[in-house]
Amino acid sequence: METKKRILSGIQPTGTFTLGNYIGAVRNWGLLQQEYECIYMVANMHAITVRQTPADLRRQTREAAALLLACGIDPKTSILFVQSHVPAHAELNWVLACSTQFGELSRMTQFKDKSARHADNVNAGLFTYPVLMAADILVYNADLVPVGADQKQHLELARNVAGRFNGVYGDTLTVPDPYIPQTGARIMSLQEPDKKMSKSDTNANSFILMLDDPDTIRRKFKRAVTDSEGRVYASPEKPGVTNLMSIYSVFTGKDMAAIEAEFDGRGYGDLKSAVAESVVETFAPIQDEYRRILADKAYLDEVLKDGAERARRIADRVVSKVYRKVGFLQL
Ligand code: TRP
Repeated sequence: METKKRILSGIQPTGTFTLGNYIGAVRNWGLLQQEYECIYMVANMHAITVRQTPADLRRQTREAAALLLACGIDPKTSILFVQSHVPAHAELNWVLACSTQFGELSRMTQFKDKSARHADNVNAGLFTYPVLMAADILVYNADLVPVGADQKQHLELARNVAGRFNGVYGDTLTVPDPYIPQTGARIMSLQEPDKKMSKSDTNANSFILMLDDPDTIRRKFKRAVTDSEGRVYASPEKPGVTNLMSIYSVFTGKDMAAIEAEFDGRGYGDLKSAVAESVVETFAPIQDEYRRILADKAYLDEVLKDGAERARRIADRVVSKVYRKVGFLQL
């Protein structure tokens, strides 16, 4: 039997996911489960690089897991777990930190951005975060990592660190490749369509949350920034309209040409309400399922316990091998 390639990815449990997270990441996570062995993680350890309210972080960790399940992650096929439940991540993190150069971490653009935005809390964790992310990946010998553009530099670092470790200690860690999804539409802000949709945006009209109610979704699309031309077609000069069309394309399966034809002779108002309805229709059953799972805490916690156990079985073996290679005494 041919063994499946292993995929690993993670998402931070800070607030609910946006439409952009869904299209760019979570939706694909579900689709990958047939073809790959998938390991998905709620990255709660990454979340504390910026200050969190403990009770909120705890609640949001369960919420993130419930939402992933509602989006179609099957905990029997895939491994779904919470990062802090698998100590091997922190263990490998230290060893890898000693194979990572200060200079290469200094070049990470996300560190530069985040330390500028949180100037009162430029902590060492924020700086070494890419090392923990490398540990997340390498501790499972993952072959492929689906990441968005903002995480590509971190994945590149993980590849370099793995290669360097292998060079010094002999072949130990799998060097992971980026996984680029076929439908990789990058979803932009509804208010400033030159910027990526982000839940940290101060203007709540710029993003759709997966748990927004139907009226909120409709209202936000109605207010989406377009242009003054009034014709529906995709073009780099029309980022607002193109973004709406991309969203509509993902949710209906229609390509851009078909959408253009559908809205021939019609205005942006029609496009906006059609997009809104396609999103409402897709999210409604996910939201129902999310609420059902979240209400069944015993089930949810059982899933996470089982996921952590299966994850630990893989990760502990890798750490043990790494410890042996670097010369840590084993009794
Ligand atoms: N750093 C990622 C983010 O903020 C989340 C993440 C943590 C991750 N560990 C990972 C993604 C490992 C891929 C692989 O989006």
